Amino acid sequence: MKFFIDTANLDEIKEAHSLGILDGVTTNPSLIAREGIAGRKAFEKHIKTICELVAAPVSAEAVSMTFDDMVAEARTLSQIDANVVVKIPMTLDGLKAVRQLSEEGINTNVTLVFSPLQALLAAKAGATYISPFVGRLDDISQDGMKVVEEIIDVFANYLFETEIIVASIRNPLHVLTAAELGADIATIPFKVIEQLAQHPLTDVGIDKFLKDWQKVEK
Ligand code: E4P
Repeated sequence: MKFFIDTANLDEIKEAHSLGILDGVTTNPSLIAREGIAGRKAFEKHIKTICELVAAPVSAEAVSMTFDDMVAEARTLSQIDANVVVKIPMTLDGLKAVRQLSEEGINTNVTLVFSPLQALLAAKAGATYISPFVGRLDDISQDGMKVVEEIIDVFANYLFETEIIVASIRNPLHVLTAAELGADIATIPFKVIEQLAQHPLTDVGIDKFLKDWQKVEK
């Protein structure tokens, strides 16, 4: 499974990259706003900086809502760097835009996917990636990972090249289940990446080994 980091924070991206396990980055307007970025130009510059840090797919979200505007915005975003993937919301105009962009060779990530039928439509439209949001489904008492399982089952019947990014991850169990299901990618907040590496018995074990080593050195 590929690991993307779900953040626009440069320090988190650098740190995750230094671990040697990073395969890409996803951002969204909320994550961009959280970094205090103001203005379109600053947004595009920030995406460029991320692309310079990580030579891998970097999702940048289009905020236009009509077909023409989405396509125009996506073309501009795709000029920032060859690794930019344009996030397009799962709407009818979004689907039309994905088809057009796919024909132009622009990579897309259809975002805000909450059902296998939305995923199927996006794949048929030629999406490079689709992002089911598991945490937000869990938040409304629906099983987010069940939706991922359904999408994987549907895609297994066909020959779509669309990759599944498990998004809106809130905890290590989401990552484990994504891996067990064979999802292509999990996009993970930095805090959860840190949690994946931790285990109390590892800490206890290190403590004991270091204490015993002091006896050896005496
Ligand atoms: C994915 O691409 C989104 O940026 C993200 O995973 C949304 O997560 P949230 O539901 O925690 O905002």
